[in-house]
Amino acid sequence: MRTQVAIIGAGPAGLSLGRLLEAAGIDAIIIEQRSSDYVLGRIRAGVLEQSSVDLLRQMGVSQRMDSEGIFHDGVELSFDGDMLRIDFNELIGRKVMVYGQTEVTRDLMDSRAASGAKTVYEASDVQIHDFDRDCPRVTYTKDGTSHEIECDFIAGCDGFHGVSRASVPKHAISIFERVYPFGWLGVLVDQPPVAEELIYAHHERGFALCSMRSLMRSRYYVQVDSSERTENWSDDRFWDELRARLNPDIAESLKTGPTIEKSIAPLRSFVAEPLRFGRLFLTGDAAHIVPPTGAKGLNMAIHDVMELAGALREYYEERSNAGIDAYSGCVLANTWRTERFSWWMTQLLHTFPESGNFGRRIQRADFDYLGASRIARKSLAENYTGFRP
Ligand code: APR
Ligand code: PHB
Repeated sequence: MRTQVAIIGAGPAGLSLGRLLEAAGIDAIIIEQRSSDYVLGRIRAGVLEQSSVDLLRQMGVSQRMDSEGIFHDGVELSFDGDMLRIDFNELIGRKVMVYGQTEVTRDLMDSRAASGAKTVYEASDVQIHDFDRDCPRVTYTKDGTSHEIECDFIAGCDGFHGVSRASVPKHAISIFERVYPFGWLGVLVDQPPVAEELIYAHHERGFALCSMRSLMRSRYYVQVDSSERTENWSDDRFWDELRARLNPDIAESLKTGPTIEKSIAPLRSFVAEPLRFGRLFLTGDAAHIVPPTGAKGLNMAIHDVMELAGALREYYEERSNAGIDAYSGCVLANTWRTERFSWWMTQLLHTFPESGNFGRRIQRADFDYLGASRIARKSLAENYTGFRP
């Protein structure tokens, strides 16, 4: 088999890249190790920046998003129960859209299936070869038969644990990483959200987040120690802990019920450099991870693939290497801007036992500064809604 671009991974990054290449008339095959149901079973964040919304519209996959997504003008911050609203629309004239990442993935999958573009699901032993030469290859096994794809380029869209980044020789790649000593315990519940907008809450017992998937389905999180397990968290224990971390009036109006999903996600900041190795490009979670505070993971992935698709279009249509040569630098600049913001929000809102009472006073000062300074609020708004200089 031969294709122009072999895409490893059918998460949001691989599927959006597939869609953009298809629109540009560039032939691509997606090779995914899991089944489509497994991919759709993963629950992740649900906030889209305006530029992500625009790109999904441009890709022609926005019909459901446009009818079911909910625009939010701002978010609420809570610090030991004191509330502060950040009104993005009033501060900088921008909004964000609440629409689950699982739904974005489903829309992209449906559009790919309808177009007949080739996706190989449940491919095992996926390996990439010769990306430092002119004719890279991808090999995999499907239903007991070995396959080989020859291609011009490989797009590593295979997430944090994928084979693409792992195939780069150690001496050619630098890793920058911070692993946080806690995770987020998240639940889904079929109850109306506690508030119209998201609430990011700091409390001495730990961080909490009130989010939503729709006007009838809510998503809540509490910070837990890295060693915690979901088995230790009955629904009652979760609701009691969440209430304890919220402003009392908000806690009072929380509508609880049996949870329909419960999982713990670790928190990590991670960047690989560079993001191009000959004819291999890294995008999305294969290239970088942000802690979920700020909901940037999917938005970064969408930004990466937009850059990569543009670069590949330039290569095929104009016979120019300029875009692919600029890819790594351009994506890394956006990555580090977004890493900084996600790290800052994480730092502001979580409890860090090791930083002691000094650390807590600094967090309070940071929160009070936001309350006192319109410029500080504007900065938060600009970053949360997606800063593109
Ligand atoms: N071969 C083929 N596919 C693989 C391999 C492999 N060796 N390893 C991983 N994959 C697949 C995974 O099964 C997954 O479906 O690659 C896909 C990667 O998807 P994500 O982990 O969702 O990563 P990405 O598409 O970069 O997502 C970016 O969306 O899913 C979120 O947290 C993620 O917010 C981030 C954003
Ligand atoms: C979510 O709804 O799952 C969500 C929202 C905002 C975040 C993280 C997760 O920052």
